[in-house]
This record gives sequence, C-alpha cells and structure tokens, in this order.
Amino acid sequence: MESSTQIAEVSGTKPPRGFVKLIAATAALAGLLFGFDTGVISGAILFIKGELGLTPVAQEVLVSAALVGAVCGSALSGRFTDAWGRKRTILATAGIFAAGSVLCALAGNFVALILGRLAVGVAIGVASYTAPLYIGEMAPPKLRGGLVTLNQLAITVGILLAYVVDAAFAPTGGWRLMFAFGAVPAIVLELGIAVLPESPRWLLLHQRKEEAVKVLTRIRGNQDVMPELNDILSHAEPGRGKLADLFSPIVLPVLFCGVGLAVIQQITGINTVIYYAPTIFQAAGFQSAQSSIIATAGVGLVNVLMTIVAIPLLDRVGRRPLLLTSLAGMTVSLAALGLGFAIGGEALKWIGLLSLAVYIASFAIGLGPVFWLLISEIFPLSVRGQGASVATMANWLGNFVVSLTFLSLLNALGSAWAFLLYAALCVVGIWFCLRFVPETKGVPLERIEADLRAGRPLRKLGAG
Ligand code: BGC
Repeated sequence: MESSTQIAEVSGTKPPRGFVKLIAATAALAGLLFGFDTGVISGAILFIKGELGLTPVAQEVLVSAALVGAVCGSALSGRFTDAWGRKRTILATAGIFAAGSVLCALAGNFVALILGRLAVGVAIGVASYTAPLYIGEMAPPKLRGGLVTLNQLAITVGILLAYVVDAAFAPTGGWRLMFAFGAVPAIVLELGIAVLPESPRWLLLHQRKEEAVKVLTRIRGNQDVMPELNDILSHAEPGRGKLADLFSPIVLPVLFCGVGLAVIQQITGINTVIYYAPTIFQAAGFQSAQSSIIATAGVGLVNVLMTIVAIPLLDRVGRRPLLLTSLAGMTVSLAALGLGFAIGGEALKWIGLLSLAVYIASFAIGLGPVFWLLISEIFPLSVRGQGASVATMANWLGNFVVSLTFLSLLNALGSAWAFLLYAALCVVGIWFCLRFVPETKGVPLERIEADLRAGRPLRKLGAG
C-alpha cells in the first residue's frame, strides 16, 4: 500500500479511491462490534440465567450493563478523541472490545460477567462515535455520506451476525462461545487500524502540519491537497475545544440539532424491535420459538439490505429527503401495528409481520444512517469530538431508557397504545427534522462551519 501511494505521489496521479474506501471499511469494523455486542446478549441470556441461577432483576442488570457502559464510554471519550487522536482512540477501543469479550467468555461468576459487559459497553460507546468521526474526516465530500454510512451498515451486519451466532451455538447452550466470537473482529480492527493514518484534520488541530500534508496527499492525490488543507487550517483553532465551547451561541444550535436527532432516533422505538422482536412476534401470534426466531432473523436481514440501499442515496438524494421519508414510513407502520393490536384476530399475525418489516426498512433507509452521519458533519472542527460525543451519549441514554421501559410500557398501556405512542413520537420527529435539520449532501465540512459562524439558521447550513 505504501509503495503504490508513493508511486502515485511521485507521478502526480490520483491514488485510487480504493484506499479511502479501505480506511472506511476497516474503521467500520468498530460498527460491526457495536452491532454484534449489543445483539449477542439476547441469545446468550437464555442460557446464562439457568447456569448462573439469575433472578429477573439480575438478568435486567446484565442486559443493561453494556448500555450503561456505552453511556459512560460516550460521555468520557470526546476528550480522548480530541486529545489522543481518532486513530489511537480506536486502537484502545479495539483492545477493550477484545479484553471484554474474553472476560465474558471466561467469567466464573456474575460479577466477572458484569465487569466484562461493562467494559464491552464502554468500548461500544467510544466506538459508536469515533468510527464515523474518523471516516467522515478522511472521506472526500462527495463520498462522505456513503463512506460514513458503511459504519451503520456494519452495525446492522453485526446485529444480524449476533442473531446467527446465537442461533448456531444455541443447540449446545454455548453462551461463552457466543461472547468469545466478538474477540475476532476486535483483533482484526486492532491490526487494521494500526497501519492506517491519523485524521489530517486532527493533525492540523495539533499543529502537526507536515504529517497532515502527507496523509492528505496519500488519501487525495497531489492536485486536491492545498485548497483542502488551507480550508481545514482556517478552521483549526488550537487551544479551543473545551466542553464549555459547546454552549457558545454559535455551537449551541448544532448541539440542539445533534442531541435532538439522537433522542428521536431512540424514542421512536428502534431498539424495542431490535432487542424484543421475538416478544413482539409472539404477542402478534407467532407462538413457536422457531417461527419467531426466523421472523427476527428476517428483521435483521431487512435492516442490512435497506442500509445497503441507503448508501448511494445519501449522497444523491440527500440526507433530509431520506430522513423525512424514513420517519413517514415509521409513523405509518407503527400506526398500523398499533391498530392491528387494537383489532386483534388472525390478521394481526400478518399485519405484525408486514408492519415490522416496513418499520425496520424505513428506519434503515434514513433515521438509522443519517443520525450518525450528521453528527460527524455538523460540529465545528474544534469541538467536533466533544459535540459528537455528547450527541452519542444522548443516543445511548435514550436507548437505555427506552429498552428499560418498553416491557413496562406494554403492560401499562397495552400493545396497541404503546405502538401508537411511538407513532406519535415519529410525527414529532418529522416536525423536528423539517424545522431544524440541515442538508449536508456534498457540502465540505468547512463550509458548514463557515455558515455557522456567519449566523445562518440551522436549516440553511451549507445551502446555496
Ligand atoms: C442505532 C442503534 C440501533 C441500530 C439498528 C443504530 O443507528 O443507533 O440503536 O440498534 O441502528 O440498526
């Protein structure tokens, strides 16, 4: 790789886009681990509870340990990405993923298991924003949407992989192997990221201009480097980037947009489906464990396939149209599911299946990828790590609250009203996006920042 880049530098030809794609694909392994490690517990818990004799409360603690870890990881790690750099943070994260997976696999008691899941959760929290941030800073503007979304694709593949691994080890009750499997992509990520360059934007922010020039030359080809470099330099203000800066009048609206989207991504119920699909399917009439497992795997597959469809569309159609279509589809499918439960009867089974398929497809085409993409784009460089980290933390907090309250909500309101409530929250999401979310398709990150400083309203950032 080094030698072909050097040849490209000497001859002045553009290095193939393949290198930047390879960088994105490698960093996206962090997304795969995010998906795998959040998904794997759903199958493992079935066997652990018997072997370790866990009470229902202990089971809830075990299931939510990774989410708690993720909230803490995302809260702390904005500082790490800004201080250590994106690459070193991902390196450390991969190590924690591997160590946490091994600890879970070897755990002799409940406490060791909780510690392992907490560690994995911290890694998930850090990885969930560092990977899109790193990819977004390496990608050329025209490819940025698609490349950053590789991370979301990897999340969905990780979730599907977890369903498959759980199903494969279920006949032997091998929960330790389910967890151990997670160490494999973690090691590949560790080795892969070790040979990749640091983000040029971060290097410039830390006055390492020479290295930044080298990296940019390597990933862009000689002809494009100087304008981009100057653009980044004019926005790299060393010495800034404190948490308090997020609350400055310039950054506050962006923070509002990022946190708002994070909350909307979660309160519209995605993880009630991802974590509890078998429960919903059983309530809708798929009584046998096998049919609900097949239906759940179907949900995982639709999620992957529609994310693939979203990738080219993000940079062609744009973020906003996809976001609005997505929320509209989610509203309709949740309302149909709620009404299906209200009416009941034989038809509910098929209404349930169809609604969940449309719901997950709608999420995957917009709200899933666009949230992670936008928070890697909209914050000014000097606070990008901090900003993305706060938005990510809001996302994990939302996830934690929704996952913890879903079953109680079903009991308190009944299935029909619970899903109608999520549908109403999608409508709030549509209003929020119409009003506050900018279109960032093809806009250089530095333009977005310049518009912010010029006092343009959120909705108009990067426009015209
Ligand atoms: C969300 C996760 C969710 C996943 C499903 C991600 O964008 O942040 O909470 O589990 O999508 O694909």
